[in-house]
Amino acid sequence: MSTPIRAIAAGNWKMNGTVASTAEIEALVAGLGSEDPGCDVMICPPATLINIFAQIALGSRVEIGAQDCHANETGAHTGDLSAEMLAEAGATTIIVGHSERRQDHFENNETVRAKAEAAWRAGLKAIICCGESDEQRKAGEALEVVASQVVASLPEGATPENTTIAYEPIWAIGTGKTPTAADVAEMHANIRTTLNKIIGDTANEMRILYGGSVKPANADELMSVDNVNGALVGGASLKAEDFLGIIAAYKD
Ligand code: PGA
Repeated sequence: MSTPIRAIAAGNWKMNGTVASTAEIEALVAGLGSEDPGCDVMICPPATLINIFAQIALGSRVEIGAQDCHANETGAHTGDLSAEMLAEAGATTIIVGHSERRQDHFENNETVRAKAEAAWRAGLKAIICCGESDEQRKAGEALEVVASQVVASLPEGATPENTTIAYEPIWAIGTGKTPTAADVAEMHANIRTTLNKIIGDTANEMRILYGGSVKPANADELMSVDNVNGALVGGASLKAEDFLGIIAAYKD
């Protein structure tokens, strides 16, 4: 069943972009103009660019987010950034638990939950990521794995206002492969049911994003699947033209 949730197209730039990339944010802001694109739009650049992007995006339709944070507010954590620091730089949202963080930095569900709480503590929203590996999907464990990630990564107090879920099958990230629309529908329904069990009916209003090789060419199909309330986009968010092509899936 389609829900009247306002979707969001969120771009995750990962470890890409320098000050020269301000041209892409300027192009995105200009490309969107003042008309309602039919969805919210966000770019999560590397932390070094949050402040400059936030200044460029001020008063536009583009929100700026962050890709990760430390769970603590301050302390002896060399190289880390707190949610409060990211908020001060101009982020409105923090992605937590991306599979690249779970894999490269050995983050577990408990860490992810603490980071989501840190985002809220700083007055920001959290996008909590989940998703199965290729092996888990082939073994028929995908639904179970993702449901258990959602249960264990979602802090108490999660609401549709402070939290978004992003389903990103690991095998679809940066590979050009995507699940079938039927598989996406099955997984998103599974996530919705899991959320219903944890937070009740309010879960019907929580955004559940799909991520993994979303491109202008497949956005229409993927974004029209039941319970898909937007996209988390990596590679295709780096160029304003491509990202605008995905956002166009939400134009009437
Ligand atoms: P991709 O990345 O769009 O490049 O597959 C998605 C993500 O990791 O958020």
